Amino acid sequence: MAKNILADKILIIDFGSQYTQLIARRVRELGVYCEIYHHKSSIKSIKDFDPKGIILSGGPETVKHKGSPKVPDQLFNLGIPVLGICYGMQSIAKQLGGKVELADRREFGHANLKIKNQASGLFKKIKTKKINVWMSHGDHVSKLPKGFKSCGVTSNSPIAALYHPTKKIFGLQFHPEVTHTPQGKQILKNFVRDISDCKGLWNSRNIITKAVEEIKQEVGDQEVLLGLSGGVDSAVVAALLSEAIGDQLTCIFVDNGLLRLNEGDQVMDTFKDGFGIKVKRANAGNQFLKDLKGKKDPERKRKAIGKTFIDVFLKEAKKNKKIKWLAQGTIYPDVIESAGTKNGTAHVIKSHHNVGGLPSYLNLPVIEPLKDLFKDEVRKIGLELGLPKEILFRHPFPGPGLGVRILGEIKKPYIKTLQFADDIFISELIKEGYYDKVSQAFAVFLPVRSVGVVGDSRRYEYVINLRAVETIDFMTAKSAKLPHSFLEKVSNRIINEIPEVSRVTYDVSSKPPATIEWE
Ligand code: XMP
Repeated sequence: MAKNILADKILIIDFGSQYTQLIARRVRELGVYCEIYHHKSSIKSIKDFDPKGIILSGGPETVKHKGSPKVPDQLFNLGIPVLGICYGMQSIAKQLGGKVELADRREFGHANLKIKNQASGLFKKIKTKKINVWMSHGDHVSKLPKGFKSCGVTSNSPIAALYHPTKKIFGLQFHPEVTHTPQGKQILKNFVRDISDCKGLWNSRNIITKAVEEIKQEVGDQEVLLGLSGGVDSAVVAALLSEAIGDQLTCIFVDNGLLRLNEGDQVMDTFKDGFGIKVKRANAGNQFLKDLKGKKDPERKRKAIGKTFIDVFLKEAKKNKKIKWLAQGTIYPDVIESAGTKNGTAHVIKSHHNVGGLPSYLNLPVIEPLKDLFKDEVRKIGLELGLPKEILFRHPFPGPGLGVRILGEIKKPYIKTLQFADDIFISELIKEGYYDKVSQAFAVFLPVRSVGVVGDSRRYEYVINLRAVETIDFMTAKSAKLPHSFLEKVSNRIINEIPEVSRVTYDVSSKPPATIEWE
């Protein structure tokens, strides 16, 4: 029987900060399960969640506006420790009778916080009197609510941290969740593990034990189908289901012929040979090519790839009449982003274009064993389950694969050329230690011919573009500043080893306005 790893939980109430998910990840890193609820959540749903501590996030609003977001007033009378961060602290101050004003000087970026006293318990184990913190706000608390004390000051705010000596209510004007606040982790640890008294049971082994028990309970002796893509999420679902239900699991791997060099074989080696999972590989490269013939427009290409994927998958799936469940690699950020953290109870199915609509076509109930986990937790349990690092830490790869990296019409020889060029680029990045430093890197095939000279003759061959980006969220990105000598080496190898290429370029555009993929 798994330990009750959900006995001690933290609830995060979201006021819309860009850092809310980061707070949740930090709490999980401290070994404590947490969920994010919308600030409009009812006091009943908050009580039902039964948290041992509550964190109020930051947010873009100002509490001085009429109708600005707030939490139910009763939340402060539950006897549960509360920590407000930035807007969360201002909201505490305002709701409990203090005053919030626009600061004379807005504080953004680094600031020095002087710890006024240790009585709050928030700064336990921090030896220095002054710490570097990250601020991002325009308002500040100018008058404490009755019974509260200030426990931290900066040159701009005499109340940069506050607490109530008996009620276990705390506020921080700065962001402890970001790495720019070096002592932030200790501060959160003090709140979560000490003040809220949560044990650290949320770790990979316990998460797996719990998931395995739940999967067994949910599916019993019935059979489960999973679409394997080679990506991290479906790989971890496969390994987890295999541990839970062994050969009640069947996987379908649609090889669309648009994968990276040897990727299809690697997927089969890992799951069929390595894990002994029943994997049916549908070699459908030719069908995809046929359906893509004559299509140059990116959206038409995407639609064709999506439709063929569904056709191939369904044809395979329908062969097995015993299947009763469809497994999906939905993870917690998919749930949060699609549902907008509505009351924390919303539950949606991953619906991006890679596998869009499969559940409705198959008319099967869906099982999503990763739906409470962040990506870093998914990777950690993948490691614990014995999946290779190459799969778990591989750069993201779009569902339509090389289909969005060959401009214009897709042709078989173009795919081959691109696979070779991409493989040279990636293996050089790994060899020179750059692979893990960039967020995503790949080659793009441009179907234009450019002149080159080989020996005495001129040749007109294709262009390969290299793209490597640094990003946190893939919404904005910067071109990675790879050394010129490195790019030159990759370019030489590509042109010398692939006769169909006469020129290599490097993309230095940022996103926005450029996107990461070329389409
Ligand atoms: P863009 O090109 O929009 O890409 O800047 C942002 C990130 O999304 C990935 N991407 C996809 N991922 N299915 C996916 O799973 C897709 O259809 C798809 N299209 C783009 C892209 O590789 C980058 O990481």
